[in-house]
Amino acid sequence: MRALVIYDTNFGNTKIIAEAIAKELGSDAKAVSVSDFDIKELEGIELLVVGSPIIGWRPSERMGKFLASLNKDQLKGVKSATYDTRVKVFFHGDASRKIAKKLEDAGAEIIDKPQAFFVKGKEGPLLDGEVEKATEWAKRLKG
Ligand SMILES: Cc1cc2nc3c(=O)[nH]c(=O)nc-3n(C[C@H](O)[C@H](O)[C@H](O)COP(=O)(O)O)c2cc1C
Repeated sequence: MRALVIYDTNFGNTKIIAEAIAKELGSDAKAVSVSDFDIKELEGIELLVVGSPIIGWRPSERMGKFLASLNKDQLKGVKSATYDTRVKVFFHGDASRKIAKKLEDAGAEIIDKPQAFFVKGKEGPLLDGEVEKATEWAKRLKG
């Protein structure tokens, strides 16, 4: 399956999740930072996964800019799924559902519930079991 995982990261944790997902999706899948991403990379993509850390209750600024750059129907026919990384606090806010909404606005078909992966503190590390959880999720996304 031709798949792309677009992520943003400040401290590397969201990247670790992106790479675990891409690895499970197979040799035709890759993870790319939203900073290096070229819009041409979306051509022929069957599955798009997008992940961001929650920054101030929403996706990161870089991810927000990417999402705002998507045109209506640009992702028509593309199956998509989203995730965020976050700390375990009461008012953590959300990024994954907000990203899903933007992808849907661009025509994507959201195929699974937006996911959350937890880090111990702002800089991480990821809580035990979160990478395995990402691998299991990717298995589900493959169908
Ligand atoms: C400026 C700043 C704001 C943050 N705001 C939130 C927040 O609103 N909710 C939350 O759960 N985590 C928040 N965090 C924690 C991040 O989610 C955490 O740094 C991130 O998951 C780590 O992923 P990364 O290593 O990929 O950057 C914030 C972190 C920073 C640096």
